Amino acid sequence: MAQITEMCYYIVSLLCKVVLSLIALYVVRRRIKMKRVYELADKLKNSYKPLPLIGHAYMALGTNEDRLNVLKQFSSEAINNKHGVTGAWIGMNFYVVVADPLAAEVLTKAVLVKSDMKAFRHLTGKYGSIFAPLDIWRRHRRVVLHSFSEKHLRDYIEIFANRSLTAVEELDVVADNGPFSIWDRILEYSMTSVSQSLLGMENIDIKDKEHELFMQAFSMYLQYTAEKMSQPWLRSDVIFRIMPIYKKLEKWKNVIHSFIEQVIRKNMSKPAGSPKNVMETIMETSRSFEQPFSLEELRDELVVLILASIDTSTVAVCFTCLMMAMHPECQERAYKEVMEVMKDATAPTIDHLSKLTYLDAVIRETLRLYPPVPLIARKVDEDVELPTGLTIVPNCELLISVWAIHRHPRHWGSDADIFNPDRFLKPSERPGGSFMAFGYGPRNCIGYRLAMKSTKIVLSSIIRRFRILPPSNQSQFELKLKYDVMLKDVNNFQIQLQRRK
Ligand code: HEM
Repeated sequence: MAQITEMCYYIVSLLCKVVLSLIALYVVRRRIKMKRVYELADKLKNSYKPLPLIGHAYMALGTNEDRLNVLKQFSSEAINNKHGVTGAWIGMNFYVVVADPLAAEVLTKAVLVKSDMKAFRHLTGKYGSIFAPLDIWRRHRRVVLHSFSEKHLRDYIEIFANRSLTAVEELDVVADNGPFSIWDRILEYSMTSVSQSLLGMENIDIKDKEHELFMQAFSMYLQYTAEKMSQPWLRSDVIFRIMPIYKKLEKWKNVIHSFIEQVIRKNMSKPAGSPKNVMETIMETSRSFEQPFSLEELRDELVVLILASIDTSTVAVCFTCLMMAMHPECQERAYKEVMEVMKDATAPTIDHLSKLTYLDAVIRETLRLYPPVPLIARKVDEDVELPTGLTIVPNCELLISVWAIHRHPRHWGSDADIFNPDRFLKPSERPGGSFMAFGYGPRNCIGYRLAMKSTKIVLSSIIRRFRILPPSNQSQFELKLKYDVMLKDVNNFQIQLQRRK
């Protein structure tokens, strides 16, 4: 008996020694691999202490409002650092938080690899350019960029203009009737106009069962993704795959994929004509460039475009509505401009849009203060030297704080927090990277021009018919913000609409 106990003791102690040696080996190897990262982290220490193993992740526990506050805290540390950057540990990964536009310009040009957003990559598949390896991204970006050229945008604008008229009719039902959330109605505008311009689904009825399920699938997918991102333990694939959330994401992904594949197949069986929507343009362009996109490639790219466009555009329109409600003088100036430019036209055309310069400035100023994408993440794969001389090294990640860049007092002045669209009307000496609502450099937003046009279209249609008012009678209500994949209003964009006489 004593011999067996001794033997067990021996085996257990041997096992412990092996495990401890393996851990020590891992720590040493990691120390060597990450030596330069630790040196960089030492230079970028700030007021917030990282804890062993979890780093600063403890600060991000809590609500989406708390998470935005963490972004603000690190942003202000970065603004006050002489290099315009600071450091943050999330688990064992080191992130460089960037708040200086000049540093961000250099980094967005030099660092092209995206951080691994597994939750989204699961949906955008092997070929969706946004998270695909660089060789796939390059080929896809060339084809997709061509599909969003000014020539092609003209073809899509009419779709957005007609959809904006439908949106205004639906808003009329709730006008003069007290406060309501404008989110769902603008989301419907974005979803229907995007489905029509991207997938060529004409005469979409939002009540159409299949389309409704498809759109529900997108909302549900985004909701579960936000949930997944707020639970750090789900970062581990092993844990994630055994949790119920994995099955839910799988289910909605399959709905999205099979719907898009069905639309593509239907389109492929039609006789070829001149392309009328993004899907047809991509098919034609990929054919004329080199190799035509396969069904899977086209499906994944369309998923990317839908994913990248719907919520971002909806957030942009909703925040601009809030700004107009809070700044009635800006709204009246934009209204007068719209009336002068459009006169009796029923719907805005591409030529009207180019003349709406004040409305353009109102939208840009809104996107400056409330960028729908307040953080851009990248993975550093080679040395990059910042203009201040600091070298950012491989094996760390970047969090470019668009939030901080847009409120940097050196570039936007001491009144950087004040809403003033006139900033965008005068020529300025500001560096190009000081406005990054649509990113910067070779990976900037492909849909930038379409997004600006679509936002102008729906806003011009809304302010022609209604006056946008705050939800209560005070114009200076306080905005409460949260970070849930995107920047959003905690109160879900409550406003009132008053019909203009
Ligand atoms: C107001 C609306 C929008 C905002 C604020 C916005 C913002 C952004 C930002 C900040 C990036 C860069 C991310 C990075 O560098 O990592 C980006 C990339 C992208 N956006 Fe947008 N976007 C908007 C609308 C759209 C629309 C309408 C489309 C397409 C129809 C679109 C398609 C894309 C794509 C495909 C990328 C990835 C580009 C690449 O990686 O090469 N976006 N967007």
